[in-house]
Amino acid sequence: MKALVTGGHGFIGSFLVEKLLKENFSVRCLVRKTSDLRWIKDLPVELITGDITESQTLPHAVEGVDYIYHIAGAIKGTTREKFFSTNCQGTLNLAEVSQKYNPNLKRFIFTSSIAATGPTSGTQKPTEDTPCHPVSNYGQSKWEAEKLLKEKFPTLPLTIIRPPIVYGPRDENFLKFFQFAKRGFFPVPPPYERYYSIVYVKDLVEGIYTASQAEVAKGKIYFIANPEFYSFESMARHLSRPFKKEPRFFYVPYWGVRFLALLGDLYVYVTKKETMLTTKKVPEIMASSWICSSEKAWRDFHFKTQVPLSQGMEETVQWLKEHRYL
Ligand SMILES: NC(=O)c1ccc[n+]([C@@H]2O[C@H](COP(=O)([O-])OP(=O)(O)OC[C@H]3O[C@@H](n4cnc5c(N)ncnc54)[C@H](OP(=O)(O)O)[C@@H]3O)[C@@H](O)[C@H]2O)c1
Repeated sequence: MKALVTGGHGFIGSFLVEKLLKENFSVRCLVRKTSDLRWIKDLPVELITGDITESQTLPHAVEGVDYIYHIAGAIKGTTREKFFSTNCQGTLNLAEVSQKYNPNLKRFIFTSSIAATGPTSGTQKPTEDTPCHPVSNYGQSKWEAEKLLKEKFPTLPLTIIRPPIVYGPRDENFLKFFQFAKRGFFPVPPPYERYYSIVYVKDLVEGIYTASQAEVAKGKIYFIANPEFYSFESMARHLSRPFKKEPRFFYVPYWGVRFLALLGDLYVYVTKKETMLTTKKVPEIMASSWICSSEKAWRDFHFKTQVPLSQGMEETVQWLKEHRYL
């Protein structure tokens, strides 16, 4: 079997590439001229240079593959346009080119996000059928991509995966939280009672792979997440355990988050670089809960996650220490 992986050199994509190689796939990765290839440079993969926002670079990438795992996406962005051009238009470009140049494709997997569903209040877990109300540009760009894929390409053998927070080795976005854990101190943004779903990266790629092989998953959407959800404090305690520390919490007032977000805006304005906390991110950060039910994946193709949070955190900290991030 042959697969194209977009974003195969990134955090989630690189674990998926390893999984596919283990399953004896021949793997092709779409990379940009500027991409950092450190996680896949020693792997036996074919590299094709291209960009999902430039359709003319995509035909070679999609030709002759059985599966497309579309993992590439913009997760940090300074503008709404950047999120939409990559996450929405880029996804539609790839779908269009694959329909034209690879009509026999077995499956097109699109990695969306829990951000497409939006936050929830309370502890009732949304399912894949819960109406979406994304609160950020990022979430809206993923949701728009989901809708337009289904509308414009009704014959595409599509499966949509919506991960919640993903953690594990190689991820630099979650690193801040491990640094807090090492210091034994966590700032908690309001509202103070909130819950999160989470998934270990190796579990997520098992889920993506299993969905891609299940006939029943064609045309459907799945959350892939640990069955339990966690409060901010319980997640922080799991994070702190490998450091043998009992965390202390500082409850940041609403105006404190706004102030830090304004500093983030200023940083972006001055440096033209991206950062995780800006005023546009505030609705996402202040939302009460980001939780989801992954029961459908169990019902449809018997997938459930295997790595408990404590084990995943332990492995991640080990990796971060070995690679001198901590
Ligand atoms: N991490 C999470 O917690 C999480 C949660 C839910 C959903 N997701 C989704 O999962 C996917 C992977 O995320 P990640 O955490 O692995 O992020 P990541 O490490 O930043 O990977 C994103 C990848 O997308 C590639 N990419 C971005 N724009 C591209 C373009 N125009 N053309 C081709 N490739 C492009 C990047 O390549 P360059 O190196 O060239 O920029 C990078 O390899 C994303 O779609 C994200 O929205 C992630």
